[in-house]
Amino acid sequence: MAKVAFVGWRGMVGSVLMDRMRAEGDFKTAGLDPLFFTTSQTGQKAPDVGLGESLLQDAMDADKLLPMDVIVTCQGSGYTKEMHPKLRSMGWDGYWIDAASAMRMDDDAVIVLDPVNRPVIDKALASGVKKYIGGNCTVSLMLMALGGLFENGLVEWMTSMTYQAASGAGAKNMRELIAQMASISGASKALLDDPASAIQDLDRTVLETMRSGDFPADNFGVPLAGSVIPWIDSEVADGQSREEWKGLVETNKILGTEKQIPIDGLCVRIGSMRCHSQALTIKLTRDVPVDEIEDMLAKANDWVRVIPNNKADSMKLLSPTAVTGGLEVPVGRIHKLNMGPEYLGAFTVGDQLLWGAAEPLRRILQIILE
Ligand code: HSE
Repeated sequence: MAKVAFVGWRGMVGSVLMDRMRAEGDFKTAGLDPLFFTTSQTGQKAPDVGLGESLLQDAMDADKLLPMDVIVTCQGSGYTKEMHPKLRSMGWDGYWIDAASAMRMDDDAVIVLDPVNRPVIDKALASGVKKYIGGNCTVSLMLMALGGLFENGLVEWMTSMTYQAASGAGAKNMRELIAQMASISGASKALLDDPASAIQDLDRTVLETMRSGDFPADNFGVPLAGSVIPWIDSEVADGQSREEWKGLVETNKILGTEKQIPIDGLCVRIGSMRCHSQALTIKLTRDVPVDEIEDMLAKANDWVRVIPNNKADSMKLLSPTAVTGGLEVPVGRIHKLNMGPEYLGAFTVGDQLLWGAAEPLRRILQIILE
């Protein structure tokens, strides 16, 4: 039996992880003995995962964690930075599975996305690596969509222009996005209800609401509903944001590339709830016909879906509205760009909380327990 600790299972990523594990029957996996930890509710009832009642343990008590074979945490980077070194210094030698970015780029950590990098994971397991970290959501979703191109050595360089959902910033931000929409809707209701009202009046009312000091923006800092925010996370250097930097370093780390593939772009927050979208420009290493490219993409894993590049399918199937809550990662708008036959355009959408966060974690746990 492997004793598996779950920390941070109540938060947004953690609760999606719990839902997915329940849905897949993971808690009934032979050899899995789960124990739930908390940073604030020690002694209260643990969640019901069909294995009888148990009580929550103190996640800050290293002695309680020491007997664990695997620790799965969605508690955040602060927890990781405090508890991981403490446990290692006490001689703990178990597997650490983490949603947070704190240890992603460590040399002795693997970023997990097994439909794309199972060979990298298998090699790491065989050589005794104990840190398995979920990747940045845009990176994981982009690789689920474009895995076929990377696998075939077709990407010389790539730009990703992102349209990232509120959920990437946190649960409070999701609420704030809807509160912003409600505020706009409340202020404009009378004008909207009156078909004879002037559009300039409606426009002015919406803008005044969004610019007013009362507009709910404590979390985003600025309006997102009816607007966009062209900066995500802190600045790294040379005008690049951390989210944009991750596109380069995490993609190359996940793939285990020997020669770094240049990847860059602009990361932008938009007013969708939990699906990230990305517009991609890919410089191919050679001219390959579009039908062959579509075939490679479609074959790369069980979840990618190639959407025919026409208006009706793109509108219906390639949007956060269509994709939210599902594991499928559609990629469409696939066509050669005017710049030349080696330049490819594509657009992809994926649920930021599933393949972008929880799914790679539940799958690496299964792989470790195999
Ligand atoms: N950093 C991402 C975002 C979410 O802000 O959308 C986590 O990968």
